[in-house]
Amino acid sequence: MKKIIIAIDGFSSCGKSTMAKELAKEIGYIYVDTGAMYRSVTLFALRAGLFDADGNIQREELRDRMHEIDISFRLNPDTKRPETFLNGENVEREIRSMEVSERVSPIAAVDFVRAALVAQQQRMGREKGLVMDGRDIGTVVFPQAELKIFVTATAEVRAQRRFDELQEKGMPACYDEILRNVQERDYIDSHREVSPLRKAADAIELDNSHLTLAQQQEWLRQRYLEAVGSV
Ligand code: DC
Repeated sequence: MKKIIIAIDGFSSCGKSTMAKELAKEIGYIYVDTGAMYRSVTLFALRAGLFDADGNIQREELRDRMHEIDISFRLNPDTKRPETFLNGENVEREIRSMEVSERVSPIAAVDFVRAALVAQQQRMGREKGLVMDGRDIGTVVFPQAELKIFVTATAEVRAQRRFDELQEKGMPACYDEILRNVQERDYIDSHREVSPLRKAADAIELDNSHLTLAQQQEWLRQRYLEAVGSV
Protein backbone atom coordinates (compact mmCIF):
# COMPACT_ATOMS: atom_id res chain seq x y z
CA MET A 1 0.00 0.00 0.00
CA LYS A 2 1.35 3.47 -0.79
CA LYS A 3 2.78 5.40 2.12
CA ILE A 4 1.41 8.83 2.94
CA ILE A 5 1.86 11.67 5.42
CA ILE A 6 -0.93 12.17 7.92
CA ALA A 7 -1.08 15.61 9.55
CA ILE A 8 -3.18 15.98 12.69
CA ASP A 9 -3.62 19.51 14.01
CA GLY A 10 -5.83 21.07 16.64
CA PHE A 11 -6.11 22.78 20.02
CA SER A 12 -4.21 21.55 23.06
CA SER A 13 -5.46 18.49 24.95
CA CYS A 14 -8.08 17.52 22.41
CA GLY A 15 -6.80 13.96 22.09
CA LYS A 16 -4.74 14.48 18.95
CA SER A 17 -1.78 12.52 20.23
CA THR A 18 -3.87 9.61 21.48
CA MET A 19 -5.53 9.20 18.10
CA ALA A 20 -2.33 9.79 16.15
CA LYS A 21 -0.37 7.28 18.25
CA GLU A 22 -3.02 4.59 17.95
CA LEU A 23 -3.33 4.96 14.21
CA ALA A 24 0.45 4.92 13.72
CA LYS A 25 0.73 1.72 15.75
CA GLU A 26 -2.08 0.09 13.83
CA ILE A 27 -0.76 0.89 10.35
CA GLY A 28 2.96 0.62 11.16
CA TYR A 29 3.77 4.31 10.67
CA ILE A 30 6.21 6.46 12.63
CA TYR A 31 4.49 8.79 15.07
CA VAL A 32 5.90 12.23 15.86
CA ASP A 33 4.51 14.44 18.64
CA THR A 34 5.71 17.93 17.68
CA GLY A 35 4.27 19.44 20.87
CA ALA A 36 6.85 17.32 22.72
CA MET A 37 9.58 19.06 20.70
CA TYR A 38 8.39 22.56 21.72
CA ARG A 39 8.05 21.28 25.28
CA SER A 40 11.64 19.99 25.19
CA VAL A 41 12.98 23.38 24.11
CA THR A 42 10.95 24.89 26.97
CA LEU A 43 12.46 22.47 29.46
CA PHE A 44 15.93 23.31 28.19
CA ALA A 45 15.20 27.03 28.57
CA LEU A 46 13.84 26.56 32.09
CA ARG A 47 16.85 24.56 33.19
CA ALA A 48 19.23 27.07 31.61
CA GLY A 49 17.49 29.94 33.43
CA LEU A 50 16.44 31.63 30.19
CA PHE A 51 13.18 33.05 31.60
CA ASP A 52 13.32 36.20 33.70
CA ALA A 53 11.18 36.78 36.80
CA ASP A 54 8.28 38.04 34.66
CA GLY A 55 8.39 34.93 32.50
CA ASN A 56 9.97 36.68 29.51
CA ILE A 57 12.38 34.66 27.40
CA GLN A 58 15.95 35.80 26.96
CA ARG A 59 15.76 35.48 23.21
CA GLU A 60 19.33 36.26 22.28
CA GLU A 61 20.74 33.76 24.71
CA LEU A 62 18.28 31.11 23.58
CA ARG A 63 19.19 31.79 19.96
CA ASP A 64 22.90 31.36 20.78
CA ARG A 65 22.22 28.08 22.55
CA MET A 66 19.82 26.48 20.05
CA HIS A 67 22.67 24.34 18.69
CA GLU A 68 23.02 22.72 22.14
CA ILE A 69 19.49 21.28 21.90
CA ASP A 70 19.14 17.82 20.46
CA ILE A 71 15.66 16.29 20.47
CA SER A 72 14.95 12.72 19.47
CA PHE A 73 12.33 10.02 19.93
CA ARG A 74 13.03 6.44 20.95
CA LEU A 75 10.63 3.54 21.24
CA ASN A 76 10.10 2.30 24.77
CA PRO A 77 10.64 -1.46 24.43
CA ASP A 78 7.94 -2.27 27.03
CA THR A 79 5.12 0.07 26.00
CA LYS A 80 6.16 0.17 22.30
CA ARG A 81 5.48 3.88 22.43
CA PRO A 82 7.93 6.60 21.44
CA GLU A 83 9.41 8.67 24.24
CA THR A 84 11.07 12.08 24.03
CA PHE A 85 14.79 12.52 24.66
CA LEU A 86 16.52 15.84 25.23
CA ASN A 87 20.28 15.61 24.75
CA GLY A 88 20.14 11.88 25.41
CA GLU A 89 17.98 12.13 28.56
CA ASN A 90 14.47 10.71 28.71
CA VAL A 91 12.28 13.75 29.48
CA GLU A 92 8.92 12.25 28.51
CA ARG A 93 7.48 12.81 31.98
CA GLU A 94 9.05 16.12 32.82
CA ILE A 95 7.89 17.86 29.64
CA ARG A 96 4.24 17.18 30.63
CA SER A 97 4.53 19.03 33.97
CA MET A 98 2.49 22.18 34.65
CA GLU A 99 5.71 24.19 34.86
CA VAL A 100 6.54 23.34 31.24
CA SER A 101 2.90 23.66 30.09
CA GLU A 102 2.79 27.19 31.48
CA ARG A 103 5.91 28.30 29.60
CA VAL A 104 5.60 26.47 26.31
CA SER A 105 3.32 28.80 24.32
CA PRO A 106 5.73 31.77 24.36
CA ILE A 107 8.58 29.43 23.37
CA ALA A 108 6.46 28.08 20.49
CA ALA A 109 5.92 31.65 19.31
CA VAL A 110 9.64 32.34 18.82
CA ASP A 111 10.44 32.43 15.09
CA PHE A 112 13.91 30.82 15.22
CA VAL A 113 12.65 28.02 17.50
CA ARG A 114 9.90 27.24 14.98
CA ALA A 115 12.28 27.40 12.03
CA ALA A 116 14.65 24.88 13.65
CA LEU A 117 11.93 22.46 14.71
CA VAL A 118 9.99 22.67 11.43
CA ALA A 119 13.19 21.84 9.50
CA GLN A 120 13.76 18.80 11.72
CA GLN A 121 10.11 17.72 11.30
CA GLN A 122 10.35 17.98 7.52
CA ARG A 123 13.46 15.79 7.54
CA MET A 124 11.53 13.17 9.53
CA GLY A 125 8.89 13.05 6.77
CA ARG A 126 11.21 12.44 3.84
CA GLU A 127 10.33 8.74 3.65
CA LYS A 128 6.60 9.30 4.31
CA GLY A 129 4.83 6.63 6.40
CA LEU A 130 4.42 9.23 9.13
CA VAL A 131 1.68 10.45 11.46
CA MET A 132 2.58 13.85 12.92
CA ASP A 133 0.51 15.89 15.32
CA GLY A 134 0.77 19.56 16.27
CA ARG A 135 -0.62 22.96 15.32
CA ASP A 136 0.90 23.75 11.95
CA ILE A 137 1.54 20.36 10.40
CA GLY A 138 -1.08 20.62 7.64
CA THR A 139 -0.45 24.33 7.04
CA VAL A 140 3.33 24.80 7.33
CA VAL A 141 5.30 21.59 7.91
CA PHE A 142 3.56 19.40 5.30
CA PRO A 143 1.14 21.50 3.25
CA GLN A 144 1.24 18.66 0.71
CA ALA A 145 0.21 15.96 3.24
CA GLU A 146 -2.20 13.45 1.70
CA LEU A 147 -4.44 13.41 4.78
CA LYS A 148 -5.06 16.37 7.08
CA ILE A 149 -7.24 16.26 10.17
CA PHE A 150 -8.20 19.24 12.33
CA VAL A 151 -9.41 18.19 15.79
CA THR A 152 -11.52 20.31 18.14
CA ALA A 153 -13.34 19.83 21.46
CA THR A 154 -14.68 22.30 24.04
CA ALA A 155 -12.15 23.80 26.47
CA GLU A 156 -13.99 22.21 29.44
CA VAL A 157 -13.85 18.72 27.93
CA ARG A 158 -10.16 19.16 27.17
CA ALA A 159 -9.34 20.45 30.67
CA GLN A 160 -11.12 17.46 32.19
CA ARG A 161 -9.10 15.07 30.01
CA ARG A 162 -5.82 16.73 30.97
CA PHE A 163 -6.85 16.60 34.64
CA ASP A 164 -7.67 12.86 34.42
CA GLU A 165 -4.39 12.19 32.64
CA LEU A 166 -2.30 13.96 35.30
CA GLN A 167 -4.19 12.23 38.11
CA GLU A 168 -3.65 8.87 36.50
CA LYS A 169 0.08 9.56 36.43
CA GLY A 170 -0.01 10.64 40.08
CA MET A 171 1.00 14.18 39.16
CA PRO A 172 -0.47 17.23 40.96
CA ALA A 173 -3.54 18.63 39.20
CA CYS A 174 -6.14 21.35 39.76
CA TYR A 175 -9.06 21.49 37.31
CA ASP A 176 -9.54 25.29 37.38
CA GLU A 177 -5.87 25.93 36.87
CA ILE A 178 -5.78 23.49 33.95
CA LEU A 179 -8.86 25.05 32.35
CA ARG A 180 -7.25 28.48 32.61
CA ASN A 181 -4.06 27.11 31.07
CA VAL A 182 -5.98 25.45 28.21
CA GLN A 183 -7.86 28.70 27.42
CA GLU A 184 -4.72 30.77 27.66
CA ARG A 185 -2.83 28.46 25.32
CA ASP A 186 -5.73 28.41 22.83
CA TYR A 187 -5.53 32.17 22.71
CA ILE A 188 -1.75 32.42 22.33
CA ASP A 189 -1.57 29.53 19.85
CA SER A 190 -4.22 31.00 17.56
CA HIS A 191 -3.14 34.64 17.81
CA ARG A 192 0.64 34.43 17.52
CA GLU A 193 2.33 36.02 14.53
CA VAL A 194 4.31 33.00 13.36
CA SER A 195 2.29 29.99 12.15
CA PRO A 196 -0.84 30.55 14.22
CA LEU A 197 -3.08 27.57 14.77
CA ARG A 198 -5.61 27.43 11.95
CA LYS A 199 -7.37 24.77 9.97
CA ALA A 200 -5.88 24.12 6.53
CA ALA A 201 -8.41 24.68 3.75
CA ASP A 202 -8.23 21.00 2.79
CA ALA A 203 -8.28 19.56 6.34
CA ILE A 204 -11.17 17.40 7.56
CA GLU A 205 -12.59 18.69 10.85
CA LEU A 206 -13.39 16.40 13.76
CA ASP A 207 -15.13 17.62 16.93
CA ASN A 208 -14.56 14.78 19.36
CA SER A 209 -16.21 16.34 22.46
CA HIS A 210 -18.77 13.56 22.56
CA LEU A 211 -17.00 10.67 20.89
CA THR A 212 -15.60 7.62 22.66
CA LEU A 213 -12.02 6.70 21.93
CA ALA A 214 -13.21 3.71 19.91
CA GLN A 215 -15.54 5.85 17.77
CA GLN A 216 -12.79 8.37 17.18
CA GLN A 217 -10.35 5.66 16.18
CA GLU A 218 -12.81 4.11 13.76
CA TRP A 219 -13.50 7.52 12.20
CA LEU A 220 -9.77 8.11 11.71
CA ARG A 221 -9.17 4.64 10.28
CA GLN A 222 -11.85 5.30 7.65
CA ARG A 223 -10.26 8.62 6.68
CA TYR A 224 -6.90 6.86 6.34
CA LEU A 225 -8.36 4.13 4.11
CA GLU A 226 -10.03 6.75 1.94
CA ALA A 227 -6.76 8.67 1.66
CA VAL A 228 -4.73 5.66 0.55
CA GLY A 229 -7.51 4.79 -1.85
CA SER A 230 -8.40 1.38 -0.52
CA VAL A 231 -12.09 1.88 0.22
O1 DC B 1 0.28 19.66 21.91
P1 DC B 1 0.96 20.20 23.14
O2 DC B 1 0.01 20.73 24.17
O3 DC B 1 1.95 19.26 23.73
O4 DC B 1 1.80 21.47 22.60
C1 DC B 1 2.59 22.24 23.44
C2 DC B 1 2.70 23.66 22.92
O5 DC B 1 3.46 23.71 21.73
C3 DC B 1 1.40 24.38 22.64
O6 DC B 1 1.38 25.61 23.31
C4 DC B 1 1.39 24.63 21.16
C5 DC B 1 2.80 24.44 20.73
N1 DC B 1 2.91 23.73 19.45
C6 DC B 1 3.08 24.48 18.31
O7 DC B 1 3.07 25.70 18.38
N2 DC B 1 3.25 23.85 17.12
C7 DC B 1 3.24 22.52 17.04
N3 DC B 1 3.41 21.94 15.84
C8 DC B 1 3.04 21.74 18.19
C9 DC B 1 2.87 22.38 19.40
